[in-house]
Amino acid sequence: MTFPARELLADWDAQQSAYIAHREARFTAVLDVLAMLYGDGFHVLDLGCGPGSFSLRLLERFPNARITAVDLDPLLLTLARHALVEYRERIQFIHADIAAPDWSAAIPGAPQAVVSSTAIHWLLPEQQVVLYRTLAGLLDDGGVLINADHQRFTSRHPRQKALAEQHDHHTQQQAFAQGALDWDAWFTQALRWPPLKALQQAREQRFSGRPAPFPTSIAVQLALLDQAGFSETGTLWQFLDDYAVAGWK
Ligand SMILES: C[S@@+](CC[C@H](N)C(=O)[O-])C[C@H]1O[C@@H](n2cnc3c(N)ncnc32)[C@H](O)[C@@H]1O
Repeated sequence: MTFPARELLADWDAQQSAYIAHREARFTAVLDVLAMLYGDGFHVLDLGCGPGSFSLRLLERFPNARITAVDLDPLLLTLARHALVEYRERIQFIHADIAAPDWSAAIPGAPQAVVSSTAIHWLLPEQQVVLYRTLAGLLDDGGVLINADHQRFTSRHPRQKALAEQHDHHTQQQAFAQGALDWDAWFTQALRWPPLKALQQAREQRFSGRPAPFPTSIAVQLALLDQAGFSETGTLWQFLDDYAVAGWK
């Protein structure tokens, strides 16, 4: 049985936007930077692609770009394959664990860019630095990694931490009042569709027993990128504790 993949992806985007106030602006900022760096035809890796949100925006904005999209979740990858089926000649999906040492063996060639949104914080900081070292090796010479994700304030930044938490709370209240699903409700809805339901157990196995990482700050992120060998690092976009962080090989 087929399922309404594009509608599920749209509901996913609304759900994610409840947790990330300026998610669309954050995507646009990354796309604008990629356009300045590479024009249109380039190879980009979407790490932790989920149901295909970032990949879809890349495919639409850059008609000659080629995407390699990686995720560990078989359910979300299946949804992404269906939602982005019209672009199948320009996107390759890879089922891999980016916290594992050998995941990059499956990546074809050297991408000019690596992007990721709201995914790398799922890894422990020590796994992140290994991932960044792998990416620094994998990228084409001069290539860029751009990670769009929350980088949380610590107790050393109490005013900004309070503002970010207040803003998150307000954004969620408003989004849910307007009908956005929360994380659990979105999965409950997705699991009504048999092709996705069939992957529920595999999904649970993939993620069971993984430690919950503690949040990292922007200072930690920049240090991890430096430590991993990126030659230039910095912040391309920020709103409170939400960032697009770049590292150039
Ligand atoms: C919050 S979702 C974000 C999905 C998408 N990038 C977006 O912005 O909508 C986090 C994604 O990271 C993926 N992920 C988490 N840990 C992973 C790992 N170790 N390897 C590969 N993907 C992982 C999850 O399966 C999920 O799809």
